[in-house]
Amino acid sequence: MESSLKHHWNKIYTNNPITQTGWYEAEPFPSVQLIEQCAVPKHAPVVDIGSGASTLIPNLLDLGYQNLYAIDISDIALEKAKALLEQARSAQVHWMVDDITNPSAVLQLQNIAIWHDRAVFHFLTKEHHRRTYHSVVQKLVMPGGFVIMGTFAMDGAEECSGLPVQRYSVESLYEFYGAGFRLVESLDYTYQMPSGDLRPYVYARFQKI
Ligand SMILES: C[S@@+](CC[C@H](N)C(=O)[O-])C[C@H]1O[C@@H](n2cnc3c(N)ncnc32)[C@H](O)[C@@H]1O
Repeated sequence: MESSLKHHWNKIYTNNPITQTGWYEAEPFPSVQLIEQCAVPKHAPVVDIGSGASTLIPNLLDLGYQNLYAIDISDIALEKAKALLEQARSAQVHWMVDDITNPSAVLQLQNIAIWHDRAVFHFLTKEHHRRTYHSVVQKLVMPGGFVIMGTFAMDGAEECSGLPVQRYSVESLYEFYGAGFRLVESLDYTYQMPSGDLRPYVYARFQKI
């Protein structure tokens, strides 16, 4: 049976054009910049958790990344994401439906070189869900691999798409990851929503020791 969280996100992706969602980016600028700065080989496995129907995957394909995992709780989002790509390009991507708070298929992955999360982790308002997230990242990301987080900043929104969020600073993200990771760089970024409203984000790039 569909979980209520999956139902929530599927409803959002069914009822809204992608370009009108409050997180749509025509150019996923900070994400691409931070991923490129990792300088991993283009065949290395890269995960985009809660990928939705974002423009990141087409951008990374254009840049030559060959081993992309687009993972989301919403099958409707991933179907929309696939539809943005020609069939041959879509076939180059590993599409996975999974819930990061109750992971299953995702646990089969290993040696991930980059774990990227934009606007997903901040929805995890329960401590045990954050602990599960941490253990998945710890298990999947290879030593020397990178973790890129983009979340609502401390002065950012308190909810998104009808759900409460947890806001972060670079320090609190660092605290979450703990001693097994080093902070490589961070940046503040103000995202402009399709409505014109501004949303402050914080981005941080970590390396697993
Ligand atoms: C605000 S959207 C961001 C989408 C994309 N990362 C972007 O930047 O455009 C949040 C995404 O996370 C997905 N999501 C929410 N909770 C999730 C979970 N527990 N596991 C996996 N994906 C989840 C949603 O379906 C949605 O696509």
